[in-house]
Amino acid sequence: MKKFISLFLSIILIFSFTACGNTQNSSTVTDSTEQNTIDNVTTESSENSTTEYETSSTESAEQQEDAEASGKILVVYYSASGNTERVAHDIADTLNADTFELVPENPYTEDDLDWTQDGSRVNKEHEDETLRDIPLMQDTVENWDEYDTVFIGYPIWWGIAAWPVNEFVTSNDFMGKTVIPFATSASSGMGESGKLLEEMAGSGDWQEGQRFSSGASTEDVAAWANGLGL
Ligand SMILES: Cc1cc2nc3c(=O)[nH]c(=O)nc-3n(C[C@H](O)[C@H](O)[C@H](O)COP(=O)(O)O)c2cc1C
Repeated sequence: MKKFISLFLSIILIFSFTACGNTQNSSTVTDSTEQNTIDNVTTESSENSTTEYETSSTESAEQQEDAEASGKILVVYYSASGNTERVAHDIADTLNADTFELVPENPYTEDDLDWTQDGSRVNKEHEDETLRDIPLMQDTVENWDEYDTVFIGYPIWWGIAAWPVNEFVTSNDFMGKTVIPFATSASSGMGESGKLLEEMAGSGDWQEGQRFSSGASTEDVAAWANGLGL
């Protein structure tokens, strides 16, 4: 009888251990399921965040490319005797910009430019506004849309922009561009030159601009260009 009781107790003990073991196992499974769930969330969220990061880094790379593409600077200029040309190149060198020279189909000779001479070409054009349409060799720029900022340089003639720039200004769309006029002169300031060109253009965000003396130094031009924050 004793043997039977101890056998019976042993069987009960074995069953209870087995049951405990299963409980332990199922608890482990739950934990690991919870762990898996947490792991999945973490993974998903880290995947999400990785994806988001990748997307946003791709976006920011694209945005950067766009900014670089649209952030290009162009320096357009007309120069009859070289002063404005030097300033234009100083600006371009300082800002790593492209340049575009406006060349009249019928260029001005020294005699043409002699405003002290009655009947010289510039005097005639000054006296008769209808003569100021000066056809250019080229009035449009390749990849114009890529330029975000356009400088426009000219000598001052009788207080306004030398008229060979007019055709360029009226032939191009400045919408969305920052336009910065600059000029060289013997003594006159910018006067209304920039404002008149802005009216001719009819579009663009025209800035006040800057007048330089005919013999402006590279240092002065570079200091001004650097100060624009472009
Ligand atoms: C036809 C003509 C008109 C000019 N009118 C003025 C003027 O009104 N005020 C001024 O200060 N300089 C005047 N100048 C001087 C030029 O603006 C100056 O020499 C300028 O730097 C020339 O630039 P460029 O070498 O790029 O042509 C005039 C020069 C010319 C040829």
